[in-house]
Amino acid sequence: MSDKGREEWSSMLGFILASIGSAVGIGNVWRFPYIVGANGGGAFLVPYLISVFLFGLPLMVLEFAIGRSTGSSVASAFQSLRQRFFAVGLAIVVIVCLILSYYLVITSWVLAYALFFALNRPVDFGAFTGSYLPLAFFILSGLAVFATVRSGVREGIERVARYLIPALVVILLFLVVFALTEPGALEGVRFYLLPDYSRLADPGVWTAAFGQAFFSLSVGMGVMLTYGSYLKRGGLFRSASIIAVADMAIAILAGLMIFPLVFTAGVDPAAGVNLAFVTLPAVFMGMQSGMVLGALFFFMLFAAALTSAVSMLEVPVATLMDSYGYPRRRATLLIFVAVMFLGLPSALSYTALRFEIFGAPFLDLADYTFGTIGLIAAGLVLSVIGGWFMERSRICAEIGGCGWQQRIYMVLIRYCVPAILVITLAATLLQAAL
Ligand code: PFF
Repeated sequence: MSDKGREEWSSMLGFILASIGSAVGIGNVWRFPYIVGANGGGAFLVPYLISVFLFGLPLMVLEFAIGRSTGSSVASAFQSLRQRFFAVGLAIVVIVCLILSYYLVITSWVLAYALFFALNRPVDFGAFTGSYLPLAFFILSGLAVFATVRSGVREGIERVARYLIPALVVILLFLVVFALTEPGALEGVRFYLLPDYSRLADPGVWTAAFGQAFFSLSVGMGVMLTYGSYLKRGGLFRSASIIAVADMAIAILAGLMIFPLVFTAGVDPAAGVNLAFVTLPAVFMGMQSGMVLGALFFFMLFAAALTSAVSMLEVPVATLMDSYGYPRRRATLLIFVAVMFLGLPSALSYTALRFEIFGAPFLDLADYTFGTIGLIAAGLVLSVIGGWFMERSRICAEIGGCGWQQRIYMVLIRYCVPAILVITLAATLLQAAL
């Protein structure tokens, strides 16, 4: 705890690991690989690199800077910039809760799969989600996230990341080496990374890259802002670069394990939910020692998902603590119960109850409304409020002076990031309307 009583990371490493934990999630391991495969293979890395380093990274630095400078989470930080922005901050907090509510459902499927594989039990997505078991796992993974956040910044969030992130990296590297020595490796890597540069003429490929970059880096939601508020000193650009590089490396490596396995098994490289929950499990079940590999894979995915879900839960919890004076334990319990209720429709949408709206499972709708549209809109608001309403000198103080580099940075934050977010938002809405 600091002199003001605010919790703090125990070290820079702890902060970086927790932030990597937030960034590296379900989005890296299954969303990134299939988006790459569907959007020009290796050529997709061009718009992706641009969006990560030109837009995502500056926004992450801005979040850290706002959090550290105000020493508070998103709603009260906004309030300290302008009184009327408090409500805007609260709206972002609500979006984070809504994203968390369905993200936890996918997390719970991952946990269930990890256990099934570890217990040597065959899994079938239809049979599993058609039962009421997902509900039990939903509560179980919710409890894991709850217990972590309840223990606090150092004892909970940081400690969990310190164990899980290195474990995740070790398992991933092992699986990559294994996959690359399988007979279908070359074909898989070719499908994944062989660049088709003609696809870069398609604006849809670019907006896909922007959307994925923001989601994957966990920026725009006040998550990094909240984590930054527990940081006392240290270079923000350096930390953000380490986090962004780690996030990207893990995403690329995930594809390097998934596609060689899929091609070795000779199955169709499916997209979306099917890739992780139908195709890959079938591949594992058809392999020698596939149950062990499957257990490792889903445990790794659970580690990634848990540390991301934890970072989302910390946002509303910190808000209750900062703005309403709640003690951490009570705040965590309250938000946990609320998120469980919010998540019920998503948790039930694939079960026998088939909770659907307009013929689409509620979970898919939630992913689109909150995880895609909501996330981009929140990022836009955050970049505008941070870039235009926080004094320049204050930002400079956080990012190491006001030299030419910082001037370029301000241009990026004030003009380029909002512009790109407006374009991405418009394109995404247009795509849905067509
Ligand atoms: N970055 C996480 C992933 O890639 O799965 C997801 C995420 C976490 C999105 C936190 C948004 C957020 F605020």
